[in-house]
Amino acid sequence: MTHTTLTGTTDRRIDALLTLLSDNAMIVISGARIAREIGVTRSTVWRWMEKLRALGVKVKGHPRTGYRIEKVPDILAPKLLRRRLYPSPFGKRIYHFFKIDSTNSVAMDLGEQGEPHGTLVIAEEQTAGRGRAGRRWHSEKTSGVYMSILLRPAISPRQAPLITMVAGLAARDAILEQTGLIPDLRWPNDVLIGRKKCCGILTEMNAEPDQIHFVVVGIGINVNHTRVPEELSGVMTSLRMETGRAHSRVELVARLLRHLDSYYNRFLNEGADAILSRFSEVSSYVTGKRVRVSTMTEIYTGTTDGLEPDGLLRIRRDDGRMLPVTSGTLTEAD
Ligand code: BTN
Repeated sequence: MTHTTLTGTTDRRIDALLTLLSDNAMIVISGARIAREIGVTRSTVWRWMEKLRALGVKVKGHPRTGYRIEKVPDILAPKLLRRRLYPSPFGKRIYHFFKIDSTNSVAMDLGEQGEPHGTLVIAEEQTAGRGRAGRRWHSEKTSGVYMSILLRPAISPRQAPLITMVAGLAARDAILEQTGLIPDLRWPNDVLIGRKKCCGILTEMNAEPDQIHFVVVGIGINVNHTRVPEELSGVMTSLRMETGRAHSRVELVARLLRHLDSYYNRFLNEGADAILSRFSEVSSYVTGKRVRVSTMTEIYTGTTDGLEPDGLLRIRRDDGRMLPVTSGTLTEAD
């Protein structure tokens, strides 16, 4: 079900329109039939077709001749997405937006309103996408995946970094499956292809010192961007830039939710060790990597030396001190 309690969520009739077009790909459907089936006027159908065209959906035709699409649109609308999902709590409830400030902000609000574990907030475009350390997340229209998952884990706040790692592992596996490329994980949760980042994760929490009320895991993936902003060109990339072809975002999100469900259950059933050892297995950053760490208060270099039980990364600093990183940004140092 598409929920409409929230201002700006996608009208469920647009969702129905997308589904109708997808079910009839390559077939001409008259404007009158579309209007009848989704319960709007023919002029609304025309207006929505224009909207879909602006989002890159290849709609042929006009009100007099009828409409036709050549391929199933890659819009993350709930009905289209839900068909690809396998049964799990993740994505049972979906809030979709064509445009929103930040899916994380919406998910934090929904968390306060008591929405259940697994609720997904997803957008075609973010006007104020948030990154870690107060940075912005470039969220170009329909090129990327911008989504947030609401989780209600029965764990202590100290273990919250492990949730972020769970999400990083899931994103890595989904990208690997989608592209055939083998991504790296830069602690705590950047997904890299080569040395460039294609996916970032922002985890936010509503908690008391000894109890988590809920966690929001925001995931941004650069999928079909053909270029990244000039100032990021050395450090960011997209799946399309790396593989030379476009990728279905619907497929990618479906894969991501499946891996998220699987890693999350592994964490709950087998405990932190399962996640830590998997992370160490697939990340080149966990042991023996020369890194530069920038925090709010200092910048230092050192060599990584494994994970602490709660997921923090141990670093042997060049001055000899061995300390875990609790926050900050890591880059590879030569
Ligand atoms: C990072 O800085 O690496 C984290 C980026 C996280 C971006 C995602 S996009 C969906 C969600 N909504 C946001 O405002 N941010 C996260």
